[in-house]
Amino acid sequence: MKKILVTGGAGYIGSHTAVELLNAGYEIIIVDNFYNSKPETIENIKKITNKDFLFYEGDVCDKKLLRKIFSENEIDAAIHFAGFKAVGESVAKPLMYYRNNIDSTLTLLETMQEFNCQKLVFSSSATVYGDPERLPIDEKCRLSVTNPYGATKLYIEGILKDLYISDNEWSIAILRYFNPVGAHESRLIGEDPNGIPNNLVPYIVKVANKELPYLNIFGNDYNTKDGTGVRDYIHVVDLAKGHLNSLNYILDHKGIDYYNLGTGKGYSVLELVKTFEKVNNVTIPYKIVDRRPGDIAVCYANPSYAKEKLNWEAKLGLESMLKSSYNFSKNTNHKKL
Ligand code: WQD
Repeated sequence: MKKILVTGGAGYIGSHTAVELLNAGYEIIIVDNFYNSKPETIENIKKITNKDFLFYEGDVCDKKLLRKIFSENEIDAAIHFAGFKAVGESVAKPLMYYRNNIDSTLTLLETMQEFNCQKLVFSSSATVYGDPERLPIDEKCRLSVTNPYGATKLYIEGILKDLYISDNEWSIAILRYFNPVGAHESRLIGEDPNGIPNNLVPYIVKVANKELPYLNIFGNDYNTKDGTGVRDYIHVVDLAKGHLNSLNYILDHKGIDYYNLGTGKGYSVLELVKTFEKVNNVTIPYKIVDRRPGDIAVCYANPSYAKEKLNWEAKLGLESMLKSSYNFSKNTNHKKL
């Protein structure tokens, strides 16, 4: 049975991907330092899948730990989620972001090379497209970043390209996520950010649970149908399945390639609020405030390349995303503000 190392596997997308890998019959090993995740997630992945797996607590920047993991296990491929991902925080603390995101990736790649493991799925982001050159966004669109978080993703994509050029034995899938939302139907894993959420859906969930008084809508003067920002929201379970398809592909093919993981549909903030209210039978009070610096008006994917090469497409709709997000938040052991 193929053994897959999942860095950051206790995190939001990592945990959902771990579930899909286990259900598909892979053996997995998770390494996570719980910087932005919780220990109970490890147990919840086991509960959902009724499967066991090895877990190492620690930092992917710790070469000694990574060498231990690779020397104790025959690892066939790695999926690299571990990294900081808050845009606003990255603007305030750029050195922390460059150090952590790039150092952890280099440490992983050097260790993989040393142990002759050359198959990698990398968690990138649609943020590398900056203000999109055209819509819908395809993988050949211009790359331009507007914040240190996005820059770490872009630089790591460049590192991976240079690595492949130096050694064509590598198999690398670079996945550019659009806006992941939602939670597993079990309500045992989901998005559970520490503190006040930066992202729209977890913020709305806190308003729905009366942990926050109202939503601030960042601008309604964009050139969109209702003036509010438009994004491509994708169910985290669809995203996780995209990682499974990417892994299956790289296990059989050498090369490096880039894939947009989105639905191809854009929804505005107001559309999202209205849909959330409808499917969950709640009211979300909001205020229109100034635009958030660095925000773009519209961003949604052309997902046809992932369909063509990975035989993957998103299947779950917005209502399922928003219902599952709210259902997860009502789970008793969920962290409150
Ligand atoms: C969505 C829309 C906001 C919060 C970011 C990262 C991206 C990825 C996903 C990591 C925008 C509006 C938001 C709020 C609002 N992260 N909004 N009030 O900015 O598209 O993408 O998260 O990979 O890399 O850039 O997501 O959820 O923050 O914003 O009005 O309280 O909701 O203006 O139009 P974003 P978001």
